[in-house]
Amino acid sequence: MTRDELIKHTILCHESKFGKRPAFAAYAPGRVEVLGNHTDYNEGFVLSAAVDAGICFVLSPCREGITLHASDLNESAKASLETLDLPGGWANYIIGVLIELQKLGAPLTGFDATFSGSIPKGAGLSSSAAIETATALAVMAGGGFALPKLDIAKLCQRAEMDAVGVRCGLLDQISSLYGKADALIHTDFRTLDVTTVPFPADEEFLICDTGVKHSLVDSEYNSRRAQCETARDFFAERLKHPVSALRDVSPAEFSALCSELDGEVARRAAHVVGENDRVARGVELLKAGDLTAFGELMFESHESSVHNFENSCEELDCVVSAAREAGALGARLSGGGFGGSAVVLVPKKQEETITAKMKSAFASKYERSLTVRAAVPSAGAGIIQIPGEF
Ligand code: GLA
Repeated sequence: MTRDELIKHTILCHESKFGKRPAFAAYAPGRVEVLGNHTDYNEGFVLSAAVDAGICFVLSPCREGITLHASDLNESAKASLETLDLPGGWANYIIGVLIELQKLGAPLTGFDATFSGSIPKGAGLSSSAAIETATALAVMAGGGFALPKLDIAKLCQRAEMDAVGVRCGLLDQISSLYGKADALIHTDFRTLDVTTVPFPADEEFLICDTGVKHSLVDSEYNSRRAQCETARDFFAERLKHPVSALRDVSPAEFSALCSELDGEVARRAAHVVGENDRVARGVELLKAGDLTAFGELMFESHESSVHNFENSCEELDCVVSAAREAGALGARLSGGGFGGSAVVLVPKKQEETITAKMKSAFASKYERSLTVRAAVPSAGAGIIQIPGEF
């Protein structure tokens, strides 16, 4: 479904559920993390892109309370404006955003809302950040309230941390908001400077959803984050310069001291330090147009996930090795890991042959099909003008 088709579909679902045309709408894309895994909360660097799939959130003001309709699930939830209680499940992402908006003084009044999406939940494309971002933009438009992009990203992150319980970094929200067509987003997660690096028109990404939805994702994610903090404290004691995050540890400093660290914690830190270095090299390779060497960094990144961060799974490894055998330029897991999607870099003209080979390798091992969709770097989130008629 294209962005415009999704917007139309969401508006029509809203009309059929609430009997009126929505007054405000926003669209937010999902994201793909291309290089720099688990570096965002270590104040490091990431290359990512918004993709051409996302969430559309529409609303119409009403007198009483809040009614939310998840049209893809055909489920609804109600909330009181006075208490903003968290009902659980998908509604927490939305109510979490409302709580944060209220804390910032945004005027909240009653509304009926509908949302639907073209990104599957749990596929590693961050449908959660897209729901949060689309909610924030539509509700702010409805209340005549404006915030800079970075503040929107941060409020959505707080919503996810507090209402959903994942200590995520800012990667997903920043990628959804700052996405740009035909470019990767390069973010420095210490200064929060976002720049773009042109992405060649001949190449694209294949997002390969393994269908593995790891039930422990949230707790594994939080425990990896805690191990990174342990490693940071170790380096802060040993190194002469200030270390407030693993970002401050160079590959040479890591190698000099890592034998003194607990083995598992050392491997976690190796991943983060290595990823930051790969992002720096990756930016230069992209600028030089060397997609082959860039793709090799993606393969290296995946190897480091397998052996150091241990956030891959068998199915992701199967896709990455099938991608390599099929002639892809690069492949790695994308996002938190433990399941979800692999991102594969391919020349557009080889899309079909590489897809077919990966699907067949996956099906022969798991007796189920691998979902593959092509994605190109796309524009970021924004408010949508509701068309008078279709
Ligand atoms: C998830 C989190 C992000 C980031 C990635 C891993 O997508 O939400 O903040 O940490 O995992 O890079």
